Amino acid sequence: MSIAEKFDSMNYGPAPESCEAALQWIAARQGKFDHFIDGDWTKPQSKKWFESRNPATGEPLAKIAAGNTKDVDAAVAAARKAQKGWSALGGPARARFLYALARAIQRNARLLAVLETLDNGKPVRETRDIDIPLVARHFYHHAGWAQLQEQEFAEFEPMGVIGQIIPWNFPLLMLAWKIASAIAAGNTVILKPAEYTSLTALCFAEICKDVGLPAGVVNIVTGDGKTGEALVKHPDIDKIAFTGSTDVGRRIRSVTAGSGKHLTLELGGKSPFIVFEDADLDSAVEGVVDAIWFNQGQVCCAGSRLLLQEGIAERMIAKLQKRMETLRVGDPLDKSIDMGAIVDPVQLETITSLVGKGAEEGGIVWQPECKLPTAGCFYPPTLISNVAPAATVAQAEIFGPVIVSMTFRTPDEAVAIANNTRYGLAASVWSENINLALDIAPKLDCGVVWINSTNQFDAACGFGGNRESGYGREGGHEGMMEVLKPNFLSKLQLSKDAEKTPERKSASTSSLAHVDRTAKLYIGGKQARPDSGYSLPVFSAKGEKIGDVGDGNRKDVRNAVEAARKATGWTKASSHNRAQVLYYLAENLDIRKAEFAERLRQTTGVSAKKAVDEVEATIQRLFSYGAWTDKYESAVHSPPMRGVTLAMKEPIGTIGMVCPDESPLLSMISLAAPALAMGNRIVLIASERHPLSATDFYQVLETSDVPAGAFNIITGPRDSLTKTLAEHDDVKSVWYFGPQTGGKLVEAASTGNMKRTWVNNGRARNWFDVTQGEGREFLRQATQIKNIWIPYGD
Ligand code: NAI
Repeated sequence: MSIAEKFDSMNYGPAPESCEAALQWIAARQGKFDHFIDGDWTKPQSKKWFESRNPATGEPLAKIAAGNTKDVDAAVAAARKAQKGWSALGGPARARFLYALARAIQRNARLLAVLETLDNGKPVRETRDIDIPLVARHFYHHAGWAQLQEQEFAEFEPMGVIGQIIPWNFPLLMLAWKIASAIAAGNTVILKPAEYTSLTALCFAEICKDVGLPAGVVNIVTGDGKTGEALVKHPDIDKIAFTGSTDVGRRIRSVTAGSGKHLTLELGGKSPFIVFEDADLDSAVEGVVDAIWFNQGQVCCAGSRLLLQEGIAERMIAKLQKRMETLRVGDPLDKSIDMGAIVDPVQLETITSLVGKGAEEGGIVWQPECKLPTAGCFYPPTLISNVAPAATVAQAEIFGPVIVSMTFRTPDEAVAIANNTRYGLAASVWSENINLALDIAPKLDCGVVWINSTNQFDAACGFGGNRESGYGREGGHEGMMEVLKPNFLSKLQLSKDAEKTPERKSASTSSLAHVDRTAKLYIGGKQARPDSGYSLPVFSAKGEKIGDVGDGNRKDVRNAVEAARKATGWTKASSHNRAQVLYYLAENLDIRKAEFAERLRQTTGVSAKKAVDEVEATIQRLFSYGAWTDKYESAVHSPPMRGVTLAMKEPIGTIGMVCPDESPLLSMISLAAPALAMGNRIVLIASERHPLSATDFYQVLETSDVPAGAFNIITGPRDSLTKTLAEHDDVKSVWYFGPQTGGKLVEAASTGNMKRTWVNNGRARNWFDVTQGEGREFLRQATQIKNIWIPYGD
């Protein structure tokens, strides 16, 4: 071909990266890898290895140890043994190790990039320019957090031993996301890579050894889902951090329910990519390329639903198709290709069958004419238009290079379609109108929003989702909070109340006779009779009957959740207005201090002085949260790029809360007030044993301008009410402070909509102690952080 012809066609010639050094690295280890446990290579107890293949050629690459429960036991024991010493080293000393890891990753960047491409099939251009630099950046950034830990997180300690399970789409980057923050904070880890892509994790293990990381701090156990499950079930693990499919995340939530393990889940997504009429369409087209054809679309936050405003839909589709014709699919080691191989034939089959389903459901499937390699797993860039919002391809995570397009007319409709998904991971908004973009961003129910950009990641910014995309954040300050816990927690004793929770007394005819004098429930700003028509007797500390409360049931819980759902005015109210209401509650409680104190004395049997102390502490708590409403501020992260990231602390929605029996007035308000302060609506189940402080509180609520539906109270049998609350799809989080068994119930029942849970594991707090009963821990549970990436500066 002459130079003139080359200029005419503008075709790229192949620019292959050599894989010789990476293959030599594998060969030097006889192509066979053991587990990395306690600082050394350890043969699998199963004496079994499985094959890892290059998806671009189908050729075997290496044999990987198949981990079983004994391997997991050994790794957990090593991590446990190392944890205290690693934590005791202190932040600055740990920081040195993280810097050393970061530098070693940079030194080995080429090897790691090529190894990743061989094992996963993603273009070397991406591993070289995105994955590996970000891996190094994560270790540098978290070295900084370790350095500052003693100042910045003085009241926190590491969680302990963390089990981490990661997927195959960003093998080394996901490892970095998990390991860097965990070890920076003084935890030790056992990481299980995905079975398709273990090689870079094993290379990282070698790097750990080279830099002299103390034995047992990082352990790598390879294997498939069964190995992962053994890790999840291990009794000596303090936290599980998982990234992968929603189905497996749900299973992990069920398996760990009631175990006391902390859990963060980063699950699937079906993220909208919204293009408004005034967007810069050429930029938006490049955005789509990065949103869905980056890593062959095997990205949890891939912009896989293209929402186009009607006026520009046709033009945008035409531009996009033209651009798709120029995308090159081929050998991932070729630096001039855009898309590499799909990770495995299984995944290729999933993509193929979902696209088939899209066509069956009336979608118009469009693919450019592009030559695919004949061997290996390849799939062309694909656009499915004419898709109904409810179609399978518009709802299911395809996890491949397939985008579906839909149109909308108004901004409100765009938001409605964008949020019409069970997921809530990320979204992109394209508009040249900053007012419009910043009006839409808060309305999207997801954890990350990119304005005029997409798929941006950085170690300083939190990443993670809402709804069935999971919970917890990785990266930045918010990520550090997921690997630390308040110092006082491990010192708490099991609640004495939990040991002798009274049997629920069934409604007697005598209590039926009292029905008119029964304290009702408080739903939608009104006192409401319980649906059952029954009441439950309440006894004093001396065992005398002192009243009746409504015997609430599932219907009452549902009514309360419905009332809370409608009370959006509270969420929209300004922080100043919410503060006024909390102050007002405090003042009105103050007026009735003597009456509330007498009730506490009577029901709980505390001294008159202690009872007054509890009411006074409750009043203070309300004032404190009035103060907090506008002081628990959002943050602005500074990623190293032309932009800033607003880490907005947003209310969660409807929070269900189950109150403990100890200090019934103070504990109830200690839970309710932070949730309300942050703009949530609440459905609160009163202490089962001492419900009268809650029912007396109705009148304080009625005189304090709390809008109808913001604060709902149900009395009755704790366990069955809790179950209904935890199973309800409109409840976004459940806080449970009852006996330990109930915590298990809450966690197991939360898997329906993957709601957040906060359980006390049967430990009693001292609600009078401000460290235990008030402040940032509560506010953190009352909010979820949305990271909004905004172009800024030059
Ligand atoms: P997966 O969720 O099955 O695997 C992720 C990790 O979990 C792997 O390390 C696997 O070995 C482990 N695992 C599997 N079963 C487990 C269990 N019972 N207990 C503990 N660990 C377990 O994902 P898979 O099968 O590789 O991909 C299936 C689909 O999941 C994809 O098509 C995609 O839709 C989605 N996916 C989403 C990812 C994300 O980042 N959101 C990442 C990978 C997959």
